[in-house]
Amino acid sequence: MSARIPAIVIGGSGYVAGELLRLLAAHPGFELAGVLSDSKPGERVASAFPHLASAYADTRFQSQPQIEAILAESPSTAMLSAAPHGVAAPLIDRLLDAAERAGKHPRVVDISADFRYRSAEAYQAVYRHEHGAPRRLAEFTCALPEHLESLPTRHVAHPGCFASAILLASVPLLKLGLTGPTLYVSGITGSTGSGRKPVEGTHHPLRHSDVYSYSALAHRHIPEVIACARAASGVEADFSFVPSSGPFARGIHVTVQGALRTSLDSARVIAALRDFYARAPFVKVLDEPPRVKNVVASNYAHLSAATNGRTVAVLCVVDNLTKGAAGGALQWLNRMYSLPETAGLELPAPGWT
Ligand SMILES: NC(=O)c1ccc[n+]([C@@H]2O[C@H](COP(=O)([O-])OP(=O)(O)OC[C@H]3O[C@@H](n4cnc5c(N)ncnc54)[C@H](OP(=O)(O)O)[C@@H]3O)[C@@H](O)[C@H]2O)c1
Repeated sequence: MSARIPAIVIGGSGYVAGELLRLLAAHPGFELAGVLSDSKPGERVASAFPHLASAYADTRFQSQPQIEAILAESPSTAMLSAAPHGVAAPLIDRLLDAAERAGKHPRVVDISADFRYRSAEAYQAVYRHEHGAPRRLAEFTCALPEHLESLPTRHVAHPGCFASAILLASVPLLKLGLTGPTLYVSGITGSTGSGRKPVEGTHHPLRHSDVYSYSALAHRHIPEVIACARAASGVEADFSFVPSSGPFARGIHVTVQGALRTSLDSARVIAALRDFYARAPFVKVLDEPPRVKNVVASNYAHLSAATNGRTVAVLCVVDNLTKGAAGGALQWLNRMYSLPETAGLELPAPGWT
């Protein structure tokens, strides 16, 4: 059996990093070579993630110099970054510099927003701080693997969780010309979407047994969705998005509505979606409305659609931490290292979470 490819995880003790570690524990093609923690170097991984203790009993978080030493060993370490935006770009830049100085060439999938933009100015306009590594922006492509056959750059920026669900639902509508460019989107997300650190507004007692919207028509990831949808469909779409907080930990449910160009019944749209995603191993198009619980903790996206002849609603569910972050990133990494796209990602959802 050939040796597995070394992989490092950045953003060590965060929720997405935890999901990356869980998926890597059973991956046939990659093996964890190091996990970088800013706040916990030397501490046991299992102390931050007790649910991963059986896979990582003796593994400890590492410091940046330790990770740099690992990167200097292998010709091309796979890097998965789940650091916060603003932190990821300068950190990835420093790690790539260190590897390149040693004549090594890692490949990166960054799950933060830092490399989703083509220009530092566009990034700064949304995130209100200077970009941490503008010279590296051209090395990244932001796309879902379902919407891009051949990767034109060395590295990938994952589009993010809400964006994954919105893009999976809307790109077929736009690319097939089923609707015009104006789409209305509502989405509901679980609390892990807000990360590990509890803050006012995302704290469990507030979210539990309640549903409320936030950042209505002003969500900061929409410029990224517009750019990804443009690249995938050729259409400059207008997304009016109202996100909401759901009283559950994992999962996203998105509804995308638009005016049909020609009258189509639900069965015709469902058939068109099925055809569009015929070669996408993680996208399942259902006849019935998709349910969050059926994809939670899996890399699958479930889609369906309904029409009244004039308006179409496409429904999409994903797990924010898996397909919307760690699983989607590994799906890209599989392709980047010429492994089967589905390697290590095919387990179905547990169903009762
Ligand atoms: N949560 C989701 O559903 C989701 C989905 C898609 C994309 N994302 C993106 O993925 C990234 C990680 O999200 P997350 O939910 O895992 O966040 P999180 O739980 O807050 O974890 C982020 C981790 O980054 C590390 N970090 C390194 N330097 C830091 C600094 N200066 N300040 C704060 N943290 C620092 C921390 O771990 P150490 O101290 O151990 O290094 C922290 O735990 C973010 O960019 C987020 O936007 C999240």
